[in-house]
Amino acid sequence: MTEPLDRENVSAPLKHVRKALPHDSAAKHVSGTATYIDDIVEPVGTLHIAPGWTRHAVRGRLSSIDLTDVRATPGVVAVLTAADISGINDCSSAFGDDPVLAEEEILFFGQVVFAVVAETRDIARKATLKARIDVAPITPILTPDDAVAADTTVLPDYQFRRGSPETGLQASETVLSGSMTIGGQEHFYLEGQVAMAVPQEDGGMLVYSSTQHPTEVQHTVAKVLGVSDALVTAEVRRMGGGFGGKESQANQWAALAAIACQKTGRCCKLRLDRDDDMIMTGKRHDFKVNWKVGHDVSGRIRAVDMEFLARCGYSADLSLGVNDRTMFHADSSYFYPDASIRSRRLRTDTCSNTAFRGFGGPQGMLAAERMIDAIAIRLGKDPLDIRKLNFYDGERNMTPYGMPVEEFDVMHDLISKLERESNYWTRREEITAFNDANAVLKKGLALTPVKFGISFTLKHLNQAGALVHLYTDGSVHLNHGGTEMGQGLYQKVAQVVAEEFGVTMDKVIITATNTSKVPNTGPTAASSGTDLNAMAAKRAAQEIKARLVEFLCEQHQCGADVIHFGDNKVLIGEKNYPLSEIAKQAYVGRIQMSHAGYFATPGITWDRETVSGRPFYYFAFGGACSEVTIDTMTGEMLVDRVDILHDVGHSLNPAIDLGQIEGGFVQGMGWLTTEELVWDDEGRLRTHAPSTYKIPTASDIPADFTVQLYEGRGNPQDTIYRSKAVGEPPVMLANSVFCAIVDAVASIAPGEVPDLDAPATPEAIMKAVQDMRRRKVHA
Ligand code: MTE
Ligand code: MOS
Repeated sequence: MTEPLDRENVSAPLKHVRKALPHDSAAKHVSGTATYIDDIVEPVGTLHIAPGWTRHAVRGRLSSIDLTDVRATPGVVAVLTAADISGINDCSSAFGDDPVLAEEEILFFGQVVFAVVAETRDIARKATLKARIDVAPITPILTPDDAVAADTTVLPDYQFRRGSPETGLQASETVLSGSMTIGGQEHFYLEGQVAMAVPQEDGGMLVYSSTQHPTEVQHTVAKVLGVSDALVTAEVRRMGGGFGGKESQANQWAALAAIACQKTGRCCKLRLDRDDDMIMTGKRHDFKVNWKVGHDVSGRIRAVDMEFLARCGYSADLSLGVNDRTMFHADSSYFYPDASIRSRRLRTDTCSNTAFRGFGGPQGMLAAERMIDAIAIRLGKDPLDIRKLNFYDGERNMTPYGMPVEEFDVMHDLISKLERESNYWTRREEITAFNDANAVLKKGLALTPVKFGISFTLKHLNQAGALVHLYTDGSVHLNHGGTEMGQGLYQKVAQVVAEEFGVTMDKVIITATNTSKVPNTGPTAASSGTDLNAMAAKRAAQEIKARLVEFLCEQHQCGADVIHFGDNKVLIGEKNYPLSEIAKQAYVGRIQMSHAGYFATPGITWDRETVSGRPFYYFAFGGACSEVTIDTMTGEMLVDRVDILHDVGHSLNPAIDLGQIEGGFVQGMGWLTTEELVWDDEGRLRTHAPSTYKIPTASDIPADFTVQLYEGRGNPQDTIYRSKAVGEPPVMLANSVFCAIVDAVASIAPGEVPDLDAPATPEAIMKAVQDMRRRKVHA
């Protein structure tokens, strides 16, 4: 069936879609009855795995590994090294450079060298400490600067270039330049990395994995075991958070569980210890950004030159897509007539950095906001005026990569509404007065935009499948390739399917993501889970419904126009029948009531080789206005008030969308203010527990926090019920907090651009304040 997708029809009364229904697992989450991997009832004889590594080596050649005492430990059943891998020793997503177990070399502090399989997790963990590993050290390359000096990269350099940035800079009235470092971020999913492998017949395996990408886990497990993909099934009902950290980096743990299972013939489970998890797995990429911006007397940008130096770690992992997305967002919401945007993907001897909510976008956008702040401060103007002056508009609407910002009017409207509702200008005056009157406490205010491109920039990932069955009791089995990590994807898709069948929500049974039900999927990432999977599920439901309608037309000798589904019933002409009755009749009439739906995003034409085409189906927009107070004696900072207006098109579920916006903002705020990753000079991560790494808690939520959905015309693209993706864009609303801190620091020495890097921890704020005081004296 090729029935066209429903066009937006606001007048049609919707029963489930666009309703603020609770997350399907909300009650289970809070009562502790939601099943995570570690809660699955273990088969008798289940063994437990602990990864073994060397705590003193950062980078070096493995000269000897003595595991005698490990093996001799009572309760230890097997000890795995690279030699135990029957297939290929690689768990990378694409580039073949992520060994499951180290072979000849230790590539970073925390690399897994062996794994202990034992009767209990405790025995396995303790036994790992008995290994004697000798390493011939190699001087590690740790920082982006080191890597530039040594010229080590994981992937080739890449650039966007438009016009002649050199001439543009020369022709500009003013040229400003600077460099900024932007810190990384630990995912800190509440449920750490975990996998459990259950042996099946004929060398097959069922792997439960806390992964955003079950298909990749399936393929990785098959690859390391040396068996066909079809012998391996990966399943996940839910994750306790992923945030990008389980897009590729769940593979290694699933692979180890599978190797242990193949070796022992018993069920094997690996749940990483929190410290190990933080040390071994990749994080948000940290950057050094070198920028130059040329502008005219009004503050309008003429040309930019931006260089992004990313610490990728020891392997490529997802650094291609992440750094491309940094470049795609280096414009934030601003038009650059001439631009050179360059990216270096630096190889360092540290954990391999990976996806993290925003996928490199936040770092690109923050650099753009730094340039805007610098222009405003030097010109003595309000940063909001400079932002608006440089916004994309009707004539100046082409991004540096050649995709137009068609919805620039939405961005303008949203920002002016927020400007009014947050009372920006009155508060600006109040804050100026406050700062004049206070020597110690200084306030700052910033209103920053979000424009986030929706789609995977790797074109083939923009596809999804769903499997829907209607049973003869009128209940619906729902399955799709998307994974649930708390974001509410399952709930949103269930609402769409309930709407389609005209059944109540309780009739739609949500089931775990499973590679044997829906194969060949992409990761649940790039915020596109709902866009893709809800559309595939809707198509599956539509197809089943169409078959029922055809059957009923024949049975009742009527036209399709008199048949309506609703309230678990089917209205045929004047008469209502329970859906269960219709389904039973259809079964007897030999009508297939199961269908696999499929969806591929249209209109995406990006060609990375030629740097041309359209990478995104559409943009999601947002704006945030944040007010902060800093204490110039201590560097302490408080977020006093935040107003957010965010565009999700027509929301599929306003409750879930608001939750995503609040959560995304707070997570972004943590990244920019309190979460600091510290490696020592030898390259050992020193911040690997909540005692040393501070994520935001409930008490860090701004006291005055207003979050609203932007009421607009909906998504102009034909997305599911005209909604827009919401998962990642809200992270970048937190740029307003960072810019507000810059604003507060700037008040100390007007005209001077604060040298504040991210994260703006109290220490960093203190340093920037002292620097400003010195500059004021010398000015
Ligand atoms: N929300 C919760 N509660 N937990 C998560 O792990 N991950 C984020 C976002 N929101 C995440 C979350 C990330 S990184 C992405 S890409 C999207 O959800 C993925 O889901 P979606 O495509 O269904 O929005
Ligand atoms: Mo999200 S960083 O795309 O998993």
